[in-house]
Amino acid sequence: MGAQDGTLVEIDGLRKEFSSAGGSTIVLDDLNLSVARGESVAIMGPSGSGKSTLLHIIGALEQPTAGRVSVDGVDPFALKPNEVAAFRNRTIGFVFQDHALLPQCTAIENVLVPTLARKMADEGAGPTSALTPVECAMELLERVGLGNRCNSWPAELSGGERQRVAIARAMINRPRLLLCDEPTGNLDAATGHMIGKLFIDLQRAENVSLIVVTHNESFAPLFNRTLHLKAGRLANS
Ligand SMILES: Nc1ncnc2c1ncn2[C@@H]1O[C@H](COP(=O)(O)OP(=O)(O)O)[C@@H](O)[C@H]1O
Ligand SMILES: [Mg+2]
Repeated sequence: MGAQDGTLVEIDGLRKEFSSAGGSTIVLDDLNLSVARGESVAIMGPSGSGKSTLLHIIGALEQPTAGRVSVDGVDPFALKPNEVAAFRNRTIGFVFQDHALLPQCTAIENVLVPTLARKMADEGAGPTSALTPVECAMELLERVGLGNRCNSWPAELSGGERQRVAIARAMINRPRLLLCDEPTGNLDAATGHMIGKLFIDLQRAENVSLIVVTHNESFAPLFNRTLHLKAGRLANS
C-alpha cells in the first residue's frame, strides 16, 4: 500500500438495528473497519447485507445503534446538527448508483452545487484552493475527461459521462473521503471498469480515501483491499 500518514476512518464495535412494530432486525453487528488516508477499499456483499447502511453511517447520514465511529479524527455523532452538515460537506464526497444530477443545470453547474452549500454551512472556512470555484469545477471536469462538455445538459450525456460529472461534483470541496454506493450499477461492464480506473486516478492524485460498494468484479484488482460484508461484519476475501 505504500507509506500512509495515519488512519482516516476508524470503526469499532459498530451495531445497527432497525426496529419496527414486527420486531427488530440487526443489520450490522460488532463491525470493525480501519481505512488509511489515501487507501481504496472495495466492499462487496449480497443485496440486503447492509452495505448502504454502513456507508450512510460512515457518512453521518444515519445514526449507529452502538459503537464508535471516527472520520478524520472526528466523531460525527458527537457534533451538533449544523456542525455535522459542515463537517460532511468539507470531509466527505458521495457518489450514488443514480448520478442524481440536476436535469435543469449544465454539467459545470452540477459540479458547483456543493460549493453553494459550503458557503452557507461552513462559516469562515473558505476555499482551500487559490482557484475560484468555477476554475476548480473546470479543472475537475477536465480530469474526468469532460473538459469539452462543461456546458452540456445531463440529458445530452451518456450514463458513464453523467456518472463522471457526479464524481467531479463529489470532489469539488476536496474531501478526504469518497463514499460510493454501487456507482457503476447502471453502467455496462466496460464503462464501469473505466469509472473504476478514474476512481484510482483521483485517489492517487488527491490522496483521497475511497470506500466503494460494488458488484463489479473488475474493481478488486484496482483497489488496495476488497472486503465482504457477511452476517453484519466485514471479512477479507
Ligand atoms: N430505514 C430502514 N428501516 C428498516 N429497515 C431498513 C432500513 N434501511 C435498511 N433496512 C434493512 O436493512 C437491511 C440492509 O439494507 P441495506 O443497507 O440497504 O443493504 P444493501 O445496501 O447491502 O443492499 C435490509 O434488510 C433492509 O431492509
Ligand atoms: Mg444498497
